[in-house]
Amino acid sequence: MRQWSGTGIAYGADYNPEQWPEEVRAEDVALMREAGVTLVSVGIFSWGLLEPEPGRFEFDWLERVLDDLHAAGIGVDLATATASPPAWLSQRWPEVLPVDHEGRRATFGSRQSWCPSSPVYRERSLALVEALAARFGAHPALRLWHISNELGCHNARCYCDVSAAAFRTWLQRRHGDVAALNDAWATAFWSQHYTSFEQVQVPALSTSFPNPAHALDFARFSSEELLGQHLAEQAVLRRVTPDVATTTNFMVSAGQTSMDYGRWARAQDVVSNDHYLVHALPDPRAELAFAADMTRGIAGGPWLLMEHSTSAVNWQPVNVAKAPGEMLRDSLAHVARGADGVMFFQWRASSGGAEQWHSGMVPHAGRDTARFREVVELGAVLRRLADVRGSDVEADVAVLVDYENTWAMEGPTLPSARVGHLDVAHQVHRLLRERQVTADVLAVGAHPDDLAAVLAGYRVVVVPTLYLCDDATAAAVAAAAAAGAQVVVTYLSGVVDERVRVRLGGYPGAFRELLGVRVEEFHPLLAGVGTALDDGSTGEVWSELARADEDVEVLAAYADGAVAGSPALTRRAVPGGGAAWYVGTTLDDEALDGLLQAVCAAGGVVPVAAATGYVDVVRRRDAATGRSWLFALNHGDEVATVDVDGVDAVSGAEVAGTLRLAPGGCAVVAEAPRA
Ligand code: GLA
Repeated sequence: MRQWSGTGIAYGADYNPEQWPEEVRAEDVALMREAGVTLVSVGIFSWGLLEPEPGRFEFDWLERVLDDLHAAGIGVDLATATASPPAWLSQRWPEVLPVDHEGRRATFGSRQSWCPSSPVYRERSLALVEALAARFGAHPALRLWHISNELGCHNARCYCDVSAAAFRTWLQRRHGDVAALNDAWATAFWSQHYTSFEQVQVPALSTSFPNPAHALDFARFSSEELLGQHLAEQAVLRRVTPDVATTTNFMVSAGQTSMDYGRWARAQDVVSNDHYLVHALPDPRAELAFAADMTRGIAGGPWLLMEHSTSAVNWQPVNVAKAPGEMLRDSLAHVARGADGVMFFQWRASSGGAEQWHSGMVPHAGRDTARFREVVELGAVLRRLADVRGSDVEADVAVLVDYENTWAMEGPTLPSARVGHLDVAHQVHRLLRERQVTADVLAVGAHPDDLAAVLAGYRVVVVPTLYLCDDATAAAVAAAAAAGAQVVVTYLSGVVDERVRVRLGGYPGAFRELLGVRVEEFHPLLAGVGTALDDGSTGEVWSELARADEDVEVLAAYADGAVAGSPALTRRAVPGGGAAWYVGTTLDDEALDGLLQAVCAAGGVVPVAAATGYVDVVRRRDAATGRSWLFALNHGDEVATVDVDGVDAVSGAEVAGTLRLAPGGCAVVAEAPRA
């Protein structure tokens, strides 16, 4: 597979020299060298300057930038520059501007203002890619192509007429004929029956609830349209520069679920991700860890952190700056979980434009700042971690997630709006991490053919709220249990198939046999209403009327209310050594932690290292050399301890037996080889 060229852990940022007078570049390059920058992403939003008029390319300025970077030994992740079209495109072809759910067409003046299905946009963008590839494909600074930028960040779903026509074509391909479409969408309901594809519209504003299957197909279509743009740009690059790897920066993070990156991953040479801490979350670092583990799961190995922030962003209600040491700790949190690069948005904080209040590696106050000194320090630490590149992250637990599920659960007509596909997944991941157990977060879409083989490698497999589940996924989960894994399925899983049709005969449909549980009726709970379980714990959000088969051990039953006596937590031994656990309610942290500990004990999953305090502990190991690195990051307010032997690449200190980390402190211990 093509890989980005260069050695060690990549370090750098988006570099937007066009925002500054040309003479600033000498200082930029000098400061990059001082910081140990090795890779910068160039040209991401430069289309307007690279092609000021249709067909007239001005590339000389970019060549001077690349030359200067190369002379300083800095590699370039060169953008195809298609993310933000220039004013002339929508001036001449206004239909390129995307239309929102309420039928309002966007105006020009922000970014990413293009319809993913627009043939005009496709043609003009590919002409630019072709010209850039021809001009810079052999430039010695080029390490990697950066296709577009955060595809779908602002234009994931377009409801214009061009999109509607493309949607109809897509539907025809997917369903074949209109009878199959009617069947798949259950259109006998509310007189939605179609007699021709021409009648089908995009699921924009409607009088009442949309058809869930219609909405789901539109979400699938929208993700595929953007992937189509990616593939079209990639095809040009692969034709012109077959040896240069390509990437596009994903947004695996809280709240961005419009693109099925599982499916997209198969098209990537290098998976890269952008991640920003969301300070409205109760524990932003738990979400960071989840996103990084999910990016690794999608990539199937190491990946590149293409963007995060040195300090504050500019797009949250209050943009919290990073405390001393936080930037290093967050960076290492990504490296611990498989990142082979630490990149930022952006190199020099802008003085104007919508991101003028976003932090950068060089702040507005310049070089003589605590921030820049930390940037230099981070570069030095990453240089000492060069050999970590390419090593694997050790994990015995898999948490299964699925973008299609986030779409299927977007609708307003589910049994409870209080249930989200990823809610329990985050809770499980957070609790395991607090016990120093690493999980791979696997996206179903990344494994169209090999899910069973992949799951077979884990001791514990967690299937949280997998509402929509096709037969192959259910079979792969059952096979993991039969192969000896402890499988944990949580409520509202497997209840609909890939057409969002209810699996009849009792929930949880696809997992009923595996779990030996048959649910007759859901009893979701209002906010603030708990349900007592007979083991003394309390459930929230969900309860249900269920029966367990004879061979199922009921670990806890509902103790009161309409479902009193129904099984809430169960375990069924599976021939072959595994077991299938069922969790029928949202447990509080203490109860879920207890359950997960029991599951881990049954599966033989042990913590990465013995530790005290709120400390992330993750091990990367190089399969070829056997070398390993133990990452330890103290996110708590107290001193943390971790049992490990070796040399800490952050402090340079030798560690014998117990590492002590001050609050906020971090270490990467190159471990002494095992006896
Ligand atoms: C995204 C984009 C960048 C920048 C940052 C700001 O990640 O890719 O161009 O806008 O957000 O946080």
